[in-house]
Amino acid sequence: MGSSSRIVGLGITLLLLCALSFYSGYTNAINEDTQPHLHRSEADCAKEATSEIQQRINARVQEELQKLSPTSKRKSRHELAKDDGDAIFPKATTGEYAAGILRVSKAELLLEYDFGVPNKHKPGEDDTDAIILYNHAHALPSGRTLLHEAIHGRIENGHQVIANATASSALSKCDTMNVVYMPLQNTATTNRFPECYVMISDFESYHINRWMRVPDFATVFKGKDRVLNHNLPLRHVGRITLATKGVDELDVPLLWDNFEKREKSFLFEHFDIVRTYLENVNSVLKDLKKILKDRNVVKSDNTVIVMTVNQGQSELLSNFICSARRRGFDVGSVLVFPTDEESKTLADGLGVATYYDEKNFGRLPTGEAKVYGDPIFCQMMFAKILSVAYVTLLGHDVLFQDVDIVWYKNPLEFFHNTTNKPIQKFDILFQHDGSAHLRYNPLSANSGFYYVRNNKRTQYLFISFIYHGALVRKTKSHQHVLIQLLLEHSSMFGLNVKVFDKFETDMFPGGFHYHQDWDTMRSIMKGTSNAYLMHMSWTENKVNKLLFLRQMGDWYVNDQCINVDVETLKGVMKDDGSLFESCCSVEPLFSCHFRDKPSIKPCPEDTPLIDPRKKRNFWGVLG
Ligand SMILES: *[C@@H]1O[C@H](CO)[C@@H](O)[C@H](O)[C@H]1NC(C)=O
Ligand SMILES: *[C@@H]1O[C@H](CO)[C@@H](O)[C@H](O)[C@H]1NC(C)=O
Repeated sequence: MGSSSRIVGLGITLLLLCALSFYSGYTNAINEDTQPHLHRSEADCAKEATSEIQQRINARVQEELQKLSPTSKRKSRHELAKDDGDAIFPKATTGEYAAGILRVSKAELLLEYDFGVPNKHKPGEDDTDAIILYNHAHALPSGRTLLHEAIHGRIENGHQVIANATASSALSKCDTMNVVYMPLQNTATTNRFPECYVMISDFESYHINRWMRVPDFATVFKGKDRVLNHNLPLRHVGRITLATKGVDELDVPLLWDNFEKREKSFLFEHFDIVRTYLENVNSVLKDLKKILKDRNVVKSDNTVIVMTVNQGQSELLSNFICSARRRGFDVGSVLVFPTDEESKTLADGLGVATYYDEKNFGRLPTGEAKVYGDPIFCQMMFAKILSVAYVTLLGHDVLFQDVDIVWYKNPLEFFHNTTNKPIQKFDILFQHDGSAHLRYNPLSANSGFYYVRNNKRTQYLFISFIYHGALVRKTKSHQHVLIQLLLEHSSMFGLNVKVFDKFETDMFPGGFHYHQDWDTMRSIMKGTSNAYLMHMSWTENKVNKLLFLRQMGDWYVNDQCINVDVETLKGVMKDDGSLFESCCSVEPLFSCHFRDKPSIKPCPEDTPLIDPRKKRNFWGVLG
């Protein structure tokens, strides 16, 4: 991932297929007799190559002059499109679906169309072109020269090349535009093997099917035999099949773990979960509506900030609330979905609204009473999905946040800024994860910070997500499944998805920046950045999250409220049930832990390095 900012040689990152209605009219342009055009005689071929080229150029010039001559009968668009000659796509065999091709600057294209996908390269450093493939003669651009170039290419230094054009002219006749993302050749991740794209004519499809030279995973079990093998035939595989590992990372969950013993698998267990959800959804929504009203959570902006937490993460939630309140932010729109008694007591005591979903998660358990491993993970994953789904079903916009976030500015001001028109057209907007893993591509959306505009598309997205719970457990990743659903719903229903990339904005930095983009981190630490928040993602270890936040000057929770049981919490509560004054430090609790990680002040030279091999100092050269 570190090398991702390099410019690649590959000139293609996007492929656009412009299509007009597939059938109407194509017969006109295709079936009529082709006119003889630039046919070369046998004798020409025997001549010097240079003179042949010269002749071709002359012939071309003559032809163009003829077209421009007012006395000659001007050829219609149709006639021009019909000229076959040395067309790039032979009319006889590919004319039915490929009428021409042009290149346009990717940067220029993206200026006009925000596909929502984060950019891999800095816009200024990305000089690649997108390729526009025209499905139909009617889609070819206007302007006789460009039209001709789209069909025949351009002769440059005696060679026929695919001509370039401005994006607006190239797309001027396209009534629809189908966008396909091609992988960068040098992507330093798992799956880069030589890839080919096959375009084929038939009824149209908006899916890409992947074939790979891997054995049948159902019969070949050994890891080393499952990987890509050039001697094997191409075989149809799932789209997240990793060639190097021989695994399908989006494999379907099984019905039975053990059929003989009737051991239920994720899929059957999820039947029960969904049944419980369906039986209770109306009463849960009723309870929730009452809480939102009683606590006056929903303000005029119709937005609820949704968070979910268990005891294992509760000090991070405390830190979000403490830091936000001490910095003067209104947390009145926050609704926490705790999954145990400790975190509920904390969140209540710190002054935010909470809702425990007893109907789906059972009687409120204490953190200790719970088993660790899959059930707790599963419960957290499902709580993340349900909490957003409920609030969406009630008709509110949602800002979903993981608990390992601190605010520098209120991010709702960004999402509610009506002057910022381009942002308003997106249904769902995400922080960039920074991971280039195949299972997150091309969006690399971070599912720990996103804004959901309430509409029928986002409502249906989260309802679908509930039904995909078994896949979430199978893949062990809420983010993985959410991204696949974003792609599907974007394609099926026109869901408008936006992921803020790391170049476009430094507004929503996360673990990616913390660990790899120190320019951004230094500007945050100096207070000169536009950052609304810091999301301490990319750090599994909770202890380190706390230490990182401490040295960034973003930690506000007093030790007496960290990792304690309900009884201890009750001991530090004020009479009114408030924990705020006793748990939240007035000033950030700063301390240095690693001098090779971002810190608000330079850490003393005797501060340890987290990675002694690398010998880096966040603030300057290593002493
Ligand atoms: C076509 O490419 C050339 C060479 O890269 C460039 O100078 C020119 O501006 C491009 N034309 C358009 C219309 O983008
Ligand atoms: C709202 O958006 C506009 C246009 O992007 C920007 O100029 C302005 O600073 C934004 N206002 C706030 C409060 O962020």
